[in-house]
Parts: sequence; C-alpha cells; structure tokens
Amino acid sequence: QQKAILSGIGSQVPETVITNKDLERLVDTNDEWIRTRTGIHERRQAASGQAASDLATEAAEKALATAGIEASDLGAIIVATSTPDMIFPSTACVLQKNLKAFNAFAYDLSAACAGFLFALSNGAQYVESGVCRHVLVVGVDLMTRIVDFQDRNTCVLFGDGAGAVVLSGSEDSQGLLGTQLGSDGRYGDILQVPAGGSRIPLTAETFPLRQHYIQMNGSEVFKMAVRAMEQAALNLLENTDTPLSAIDWLVPHQANRRIIETLGKRLQIPSEKVFMNLQHYGNMSAASIPVALDEAWRKGLIEPGQLVLMLAFGGGLTWGASLLRW
Ligand code: ACO
Repeated sequence: QQKAILSGIGSQVPETVITNKDLERLVDTNDEWIRTRTGIHERRQAASGQAASDLATEAAEKALATAGIEASDLGAIIVATSTPDMIFPSTACVLQKNLKAFNAFAYDLSAACAGFLFALSNGAQYVESGVCRHVLVVGVDLMTRIVDFQDRNTCVLFGDGAGAVVLSGSEDSQGLLGTQLGSDGRYGDILQVPAGGSRIPLTAETFPLRQHYIQMNGSEVFKMAVRAMEQAALNLLENTDTPLSAIDWLVPHQANRRIIETLGKRLQIPSEKVFMNLQHYGNMSAASIPVALDEAWRKGLIEPGQLVLMLAFGGGLTWGASLLRW
C-alpha cells in the first residue's frame, strides 16, 4: 500500500499587523493582559477585498513549488476553512481556478480550528488508496472577518493566514503514520457563530444582534481543549506503538500559550520540542498548524526523518492528533 508523504509545504499571511496596542483603542483591554493570558503579541489582518482563496492561492503555489509538481498533477484539492470566500462555490473551487488545477476534484471541509487535521487525514486516504497521486490540503481562515471588534473576550485572540501542503504517494518513505480524530456536538454552543446560516439567516433584523460573530465560553474551551488533545495524542501514540520519547516536535494548534504549555506538561514533552508562533499571529484557526509547520521547517528546526506530532482542537467540538515522519 502507498504511504502519503508530505512532499510540499507553503504558507502566506497578510501584510497588515495588528498589535495589542492597536486593540487597546477598540476595546477595554491592554497589552499586558493579552500577553500574559494568551501569549499573543500581534496578529495579521487581510486587506479589505482580500478573501480566503487569495491567501490560499499564494500558500498553495509555494507548496507546489517545494513539491516540484505542476498544478495539473493534483488529483484533489481540500480546503479546511470556517471563513470561505462565500457560501458557494467552495473556496477549493476558486483555488482550483486560480491554480489552473483542472484535473482535480475540489471541496471545502468544515471542522473549525481542527479542520487542517481532518483535511490531512481525508487527503491521505485518497493517496493511500491510490485514488490520487497528489492531493493539495489547505488550511485557511480570515478570522478577523468573523470576530466582533466590540468583544474583548474574543477579538484579541484571532488572526488571518493560510497554510498548504502537498500529499504524495510513496512506497518507501513513511510520511503520515496515523491520525486520531474526534467530535462532540453536545458542546457546540461553547464556541460558535450562530447566525449567517440557515437557522438564523443574516437579515436587517438579525444583524444588530451581532450573532454573525464568534461567541465563546473561553474557560470551558480551555479545559476541553487540553483534555481532548491530550487524550487524542495518547490514543494515537498507543495505536501507532510510538513512545512519547520518540517525538521530536510537537506542533499544536496555536490558540493560547497556556493551553499549549499545559498540554506539553501533561504529555511530558519538554518545551524545547514544542513549536510556538502564536505570539506573531494569534489563532488562525485551520491555518495555524500548516503555517507553524512551514515556519518550523523553513527555520531549519524540523529536519528530515524527524517525528512530528500535531494536535488540534476547535468548535464543533472537533479535535485531532496526527503523527508525521518528516
Ligand atoms: N482584556 C482584558 N480583560 C479581559 C479580556 C481582554 N481582552 N478578555 C476578557 N477579559 C476579562 C473578562 O471580562 C473577565 O473579567 P471579569 O472577571 O471581570 O468577568 C476576565 O478577564 C476573565 O478572566 P479569566 O477567566 O481569568 O480569563 P482566562 O484566564 O480564562 O483567559 C481566555 C481568558 C484567554 C479567553 C482563556 O480562557 C482562553 O484562552 N480560552 C481558550 C479560548 C480559545 O483559545 N479559543 C479559541 C478557539 S478554540 C481553539 O482554538 C482552541
């Protein structure tokens, strides 16, 4: 059976930087609170008129270049996002058009901040089963489009970005070793965007209620995120017969420094093996893991042959753990 290896990677964040000081002018918050509670110093914001597919296209072009393949070689394009360009066509179809990847089928996948690991697992199955030779997997979110800049509980946490990987078939390399995914719809209301869908369509009446923005119970999310990611990691390591000591890098979803530190301690992974870039970007939802992977690789931190554990958690609730031999 073919293995799905990560043959290409790229990322793109918008130019505009929003610092904590900038947010002090919008809501009753301060740089010190944001840094100590979250670890975030700044985040990026897409320019007006810029959409998810624009950042996704730039990230994907870099990923194709590092993989050394043409867009026409792609058999599938999967885009994980909660902030698509529009309801339909899917952002994946817009991306397909931009890349001229006309031999691929393309669709979006919705699993909030855990979306990238869901899409990665999905893409790997097309490769392992021989349905596709190359699959483009993208995580992209423009979270600043759906955060309420009047709500200090949420607006300080999020940012915009895109990350992309190419999965390719290989008979001798190891690549993606396993994935553990989970969901629990009973807790959907602790992190949600209630309006804008079919239950509460966005109208002149619903607009003033601000329900088309993210609503979050931060402390509940915090607790459940740590618990779910820890359990997913332990299950995955057991299923793949991997001792914790074999992990070279933990690349977790970049939501909050304290969540990541708690997770690292519970899993007994030393902090020098934990990659963090949330100080510069905040929580980019589905983009956070592929952007972090790309940065860690381009900085020369992740090296060929190393074992990388990725952990994610998001609204739904959704969560996942993936193990990758780089
Ligand atoms: N600036 C100043 N004060 C604030 C701010 C702010 N930006 N935001 C909230 N506060 C206040 C609240 O109003 C509250 O005040 P009160 O006690 O007078 O009511 C107080 O700070 C809350 O304090 P704590 O409960 O101690 O805050 P906590 O330490 O839980 O930190 C935080 C809050 C950062 C939201 C934390 O709970 C968290 O990170 N949770 C996870 C949320 C998350 O990451 N969501 C992302 C989506 S899911 C995911 O990606 C994992």
